[in-house]
Amino acid sequence: MSVSFKGVTENTHRAVIRTVKPETSSHNGMITKTQRPVVRKVVRPVGGLAEYEASDQTTLDGVAVALHVLEKRMDLLEDQNITKADHVAHFARTPQAYDPVPSPSPHISLQQVMTCSQHTAVEKTIYMSCDQYESIVDEIRAIMTEFGNTVTNNHSKLADFAGCTLRAAGHDFMDFRDNAGGSDGCLRFEDPDNKGLINCLNGNSTVVTDADTDSFNKSLHSVYQNHCGVVSLADFIVIAGEAVMGFTEVSATVDLKEDFKASFRYGRTTSATCANNVALPNPANGCADNEQTFLASNALHLSWRETAALMGVHTIGKASPENSGFSGWWQDEQNVARFNNNYYISIVNHGWGPEDSVGGKKQWGRIDFRHDDPNSLHPEMMLNTDMCLVYTNVTAELSNCCAWERLGDLQHMNITETYENKSIFCGSTDNPADFAAEQLMCCGPPDLYGVSMGACAHEGSATSYVTGGASLVPQGPATDAVHAFAGNEDLWLGEFKAVWKLATEKGAGTLTALQCECQVTVYEHWPEGIPSGLSDLAAAEQAWGGRFPTGAKKVLTGIGNHSLGTLSNLTSSVKIQGDCCKAYAYTTADCSGAPADHPIESEVQYLNGLPLGVVTPATGLASVWGCNDCAQCVKVTQQCTR
Ligand code: HEM
Repeated sequence: MSVSFKGVTENTHRAVIRTVKPETSSHNGMITKTQRPVVRKVVRPVGGLAEYEASDQTTLDGVAVALHVLEKRMDLLEDQNITKADHVAHFARTPQAYDPVPSPSPHISLQQVMTCSQHTAVEKTIYMSCDQYESIVDEIRAIMTEFGNTVTNNHSKLADFAGCTLRAAGHDFMDFRDNAGGSDGCLRFEDPDNKGLINCLNGNSTVVTDADTDSFNKSLHSVYQNHCGVVSLADFIVIAGEAVMGFTEVSATVDLKEDFKASFRYGRTTSATCANNVALPNPANGCADNEQTFLASNALHLSWRETAALMGVHTIGKASPENSGFSGWWQDEQNVARFNNNYYISIVNHGWGPEDSVGGKKQWGRIDFRHDDPNSLHPEMMLNTDMCLVYTNVTAELSNCCAWERLGDLQHMNITETYENKSIFCGSTDNPADFAAEQLMCCGPPDLYGVSMGACAHEGSATSYVTGGASLVPQGPATDAVHAFAGNEDLWLGEFKAVWKLATEKGAGTLTALQCECQVTVYEHWPEGIPSGLSDLAAAEQAWGGRFPTGAKKVLTGIGNHSLGTLSNLTSSVKIQGDCCKAYAYTTADCSGAPADHPIESEVQYLNGLPLGVVTPATGLASVWGCNDCAQCVKVTQQCTR
């Protein structure tokens, strides 16, 4: 059955949005936007015959009401006939892929998926320059550039790739407990909320078999190959998350790409076993699981405001029935590939009610007027863990309430949403007259007994901000934060950056900022952090009893001439860091005269197994600087030709 009906009168607010079940025909087996079935089962009573009989069928409005009641009844009957195949078709998935129930599988670590073919993967990054960080980001940006940023019929390769990558990075650190876990490159692939991650990570679903239909022609694995010899997987996954956020961010004033680079610190260790990896929060458990994951003192130990700031990542990407069993987007269609504050605006400026997801789980779906998507072609949803930030004690499983707020209150908090250049509230551009009119817009028409759906938020007093009736005052633990972020995107981005840093650094031990300006360290003996057992260093290591004493050292920062002072004629090893930096040695205290043979360069690897830019006696400082223990002054230059 295919009936499409949208309410006739805007001014009486009796407009009705009807769910549409499409014709079964398709083009080449593909379901197009106009045909794509939309299935929503709103858990609330629908209009009945009493309302139908009571309707005045001699007026246009009356006929609209009567039709609406009949349609609701057809909806109900259709819903009862919805088959699993319908659900699958909704997301144009193959029936075989549909499996919202987690299937038991052995624990597979991220390392097994993100292999390092050319080198031995480093467990911990010893040194990373700005340049190296930028190369990783740029290579990931190149993949995304190829996807383009068009969204057609809900399909956006960019959103799929960015969502998948960011999910990998975020869901990695959420297992931090008792000082273990965190951003350590460990993911439980068998967790339903992590299903489908293989697509952007490796693209090869022979190791992890839960790929969803979002396949990509390139994956993070191809980028990782270029860096896995020097950058740990744990660091790489965080950088990948930063790359996709920087690429999809749209703020006119905040430059996430630059900001992330400026505050990134490297040195996370990739966990070899992932033995202590704990399960992700269960979305159904709402704020109890937010507390366990984000607030608990043995976990990330964040505040509610920080938790809310972090959850804004769900502004990218979607939930899929064959992965988590939830289904839909947290944002409207034009925002699926934008890292903006649309997530917060959606929570408070839409009307939400409990519904069954097409994957068979309980979630929150839009029950408002939804003139911005009248045929429900872009199903939007929220999880209990999202809604509980604002609304107390509500779950899609047990609550039968409508989550909405008063228009005047939202406007007062500077929370606005536009659709086709017009202000929109609960999916409508109408100008509601009072509480009842707003309630109708946000929660739909009353049930067959004429009873409107109760609000999830408490009724407060009548404020001067709202027109007609009381304010609705939600009292969730992060209500203020969600309002603030919904009203000011840059405020959110600022707080998000801080909590992202906190969350991705938790439990990682000592981390080091990227070396963006040149820094030269001269050592009396050896650079610190050299692992023993390198064949080329074996003789030197033996001579020093298996240890590498650093001795006296001096750090020279920035370009220019640096006199070595007390280390004159003592230097045996040198480390130079920073992008495109070179260090020339002189045997004069003021760097006058000609420099020694060759400069030491920050981007040259002088000994296999050592970081770039490190020269030790075994490789012969003499062979680069012309002599050992004879430098008195070092001239540092920085010139990138790229
Ligand atoms: C209470 C906390 C959280 C819960 C319960 C949760 C749960 C989920 C679920 C169920 C999905 C849908 C997966 C699918 O069906 O494909 C999802 C997707 C996603 N999650 Fe989370 N998540 C949480 C926190 C986070 C955090 C902290 C981040 C990142 C910092 C994050 C990033 C994402 C992203 C970007 C997606 C979209 C994935 C895509 O489009 O492929 N999540 N999450």
